[in-house]
Amino acid sequence: MKHLLKLEDWSSEEIISTLDLADRLKYEQKNGIEHKYLAGKTLGMIFEKSSTRTRVSFEVGMTQLGGYPLFLSSNDLQIGRGEPVEDTARVLSRFIDGIMIRTFEQSEVEALAEYGSIPIINGLTDYCHPCQVLADLMTIREKKGKLEGLKMCFIGDGNNMMNSLIVGALRTGMSISVACPEGYEPPEHILELGKSFGDKFELFRKPADAAKNADVVYTDVWASMGQESEKKLREAAFEGYQVNDELMSVTNEGCMVLHCLPAHRGEEITADVFEAHADEIFEEAENRLHAQKAVLVECFK
Ligand code: CP
Ligand code: NVA
Repeated sequence: MKHLLKLEDWSSEEIISTLDLADRLKYEQKNGIEHKYLAGKTLGMIFEKSSTRTRVSFEVGMTQLGGYPLFLSSNDLQIGRGEPVEDTARVLSRFIDGIMIRTFEQSEVEALAEYGSIPIINGLTDYCHPCQVLADLMTIREKKGKLEGLKMCFIGDGNNMMNSLIVGALRTGMSISVACPEGYEPPEHILELGKSFGDKFELFRKPADAAKNADVVYTDVWASMGQESEKKLREAAFEGYQVNDELMSVTNEGCMVLHCLPAHRGEEITADVFEAHADEIFEEAENRLHAQKAVLVECFK
């Protein structure tokens, strides 16, 4: 049994072997090869925020693996009425075999793991989104045939996506350049982790400086879930931090564009760039299913 609380907890080898497993599960699913590796297992899926891809990929994925997904909205759970997460962890550990949780505080995910006795999978917190990044790396490797030596670039907020992409890219041999406005940087320890990889990590203010010679350009919304009241403020702060044709002109030939979705066309990405790279972006969305199945198998075994 193991957890996926944040990507920092997984070694390069663990990340790569999960990507290998995801490729295999995708092949098995596409070719009708039975892969009910989690028959008889139940996954509780706690959602304290909205979701399309994460909910559906885990729910469908668990079913395809022969297990049972249990959707637990915080609106209905006692956790939403103040029951401590420490108690929820100990109760659910007696009923089910694993938990996937989407919530605000990273500390809540860590507490579930500390007090529970079953695998805990982070389905997004304000701090990180490790499941998404595994699907992203899978998509890049699928299209480019490798990760080692490629350059990723992230334009936008120093948020959950930027944090996990920095860890995921560097741990798999990619370099990563990020561009964000002052005051929207990732936390200090993520910057320190980045710096420990020398010139493989760079932080810029100008998007074009980060995008130069990139093989993959990534962006995400300016206001994440829970930051709705900052929308206007953030629109002003992120002006110019847009993935558009001008930005793409400084990237390497064949540069991919990825977006975790949902996307806000006309804000962090233009409709033109989005549609030009729609095949990549929706393959990335599909790969959530295969990558999440790999995470489930890895964590439950
Ligand atoms: N990218 C992602 O996690 O999508 P959802 O919010 O729809 O789950
Ligand atoms: N940064 C976004 C990612 C959504 C998948 C959010 O947290 O809302």
